[in-house]
Amino acid sequence: MNRAIEVRDLSKSFGEKHILNRISLHVQEGETLVVLGRSGVGKSVLIKCMIRLLEPDNGEVNILNEDVLKIPDGRDLDKFRRKVGFLFQSGALYDSMTVRENLRFPLERQPDAPEEEEIVRRVEDVLEGVGLSDTQEKMPAELSGGMKKRIALARSLIMQPEVMFYDEPTTGLDPITSTEISELIREMKERYETTSLIITHDMECARITADRIVMMKEGRIAVEGTYNELKENDDPWIQAFFSDSKKEL
Ligand SMILES: Nc1ncnc2c1ncn2[C@@H]1O[C@H](COP(=O)(O)OP(=O)(O)O)[C@@H](O)[C@H]1O
Ligand SMILES: [Mg+2]
Repeated sequence: MNRAIEVRDLSKSFGEKHILNRISLHVQEGETLVVLGRSGVGKSVLIKCMIRLLEPDNGEVNILNEDVLKIPDGRDLDKFRRKVGFLFQSGALYDSMTVRENLRFPLERQPDAPEEEEIVRRVEDVLEGVGLSDTQEKMPAELSGGMKKRIALARSLIMQPEVMFYDEPTTGLDPITSTEISELIREMKERYETTSLIITHDMECARITADRIVMMKEGRIAVEGTYNELKENDDPWIQAFFSDSKKEL
């Protein structure tokens, strides 16, 4: 199987603070990798360095056979970013647009925007996928937090990205909604066969979504395994994730 994502020896410091310390990881094509780590360990910094929202100090990032850190700014970088989808914690929708307009927006502003018919079809398809077919005319203010998250996910998926990045997709949601969103992420991965990298401290989200889990500690990957393998591991540091994951880590 091919590696869709490969990170090698990625480092990033802010002044004297070494956040990423030669971190390496990979994600196979079609796989969902969950990166677990406590608050402040550098999970968001890792994602941002991988998609060039932050400039790392050293290392290599290869995504879909592109040497990401070497892509020239401008059109090439824009083209690369269109192959990659994100769902960030904020995941804000445009408040003044209906759900339909929010979903159409990223498609319409592409240089090679699809035909109108295709846009309409894709809006219907992603909305059906996230279970919100009847919300096209709704404004974001009329939706619950969980529904907004679903629409934000639909808006990323409508671009049909080959790779999806999720930064804390369940943070700020109640436990039932968190579980629903995690299950939805799993379903969408199966529906669109997307390679996914999910960053979280939510063990329940990891259990539902992950094919494989890595745990981050002091700027590197400390442990790797499936959910069940990690659960069986009696290292107290690992077990703390299972017992603390409902608390704010
Ligand atoms: N742009 C920045 N400038 C300086 N420090 C930063 C910046 N972004 C993140 N940090 C620091 O890096 C550390 C890791 O942050 P972050 O990746 O957001 O953690 P988390 O694992 O919770 O996502 C934190 O100590 C944070 O203060
Ligand atoms: Mg973060």
